[in-house]
Amino acid sequence: MTPDERRAALDAVATEVRDCRRCRLAGGRTQAVPGEGDPETEVVLVGEGPGQNEDLQGRPFVGAAGGFLGELLSVIGWRREEVFITNVVKCRPPGNRDPEPDEIAACAPFLRRQLEILDPALVVTLGRYSMNTFLPGARIGQAHGTDHPAPPETGARDARVCAMYHPAAAFRQGGLRQTMKVDMLAVPAALARSRRERAERSAGAAPVSVPERGWEAG
Ligand code: URA
Repeated sequence: MTPDERRAALDAVATEVRDCRRCRLAGGRTQAVPGEGDPETEVVLVGEGPGQNEDLQGRPFVGAAGGFLGELLSVIGWRREEVFITNVVKCRPPGNRDPEPDEIAACAPFLRRQLEILDPALVVTLGRYSMNTFLPGARIGQAHGTDHPAPPETGARDARVCAMYHPAAAFRQGGLRQTMKVDMLAVPAALARSRRERAERSAGAAPVSVPERGWEAG
């Protein structure tokens, strides 16, 4: 896909998201939040769902959690414009409640298509709803800071997934601020590992196996 084709394909998904009425969240939104970022990026960040500020502006992570996310990215010298940021559900759950399973299921095809188009090397999940989309059954207390192969059926056909706490969790539990910064420091190495695996696969070689730290093992 050329960069122009990729941008057009992402715009087409965004247009569908803005018109979507597949679940009850459409009834309460000011506007949907399809996601944004560099269409040529190798890295996709996936949050949970828009909050109040995102619902008003139509952009992901523009409130307090977004401020801390920017701070976390700066720990590794990255900027939000260089990655793609989206959410599991694209419309704000009322009162910022957790998204319901049927709402997540209704919205899943949009995230899958975004990932198919972007073909990232790395997906960073923010919070447990996002993590469980890629690592079903994982527990955030054990999985945070670890990376694993992405199930290709998620749309990320050749990627690793890095699990992180949701930035807003640090507002409830101050100690997580430091934990999240430490977890973020592991992200460039996960990207490097994924790049290596992708290069090996595209050269037709079996990837050198990377020892997995299973999240079940703790
Ligand atoms: N929290 C999320 O999970 N996503 C946003 O876009 C904003 C806050």
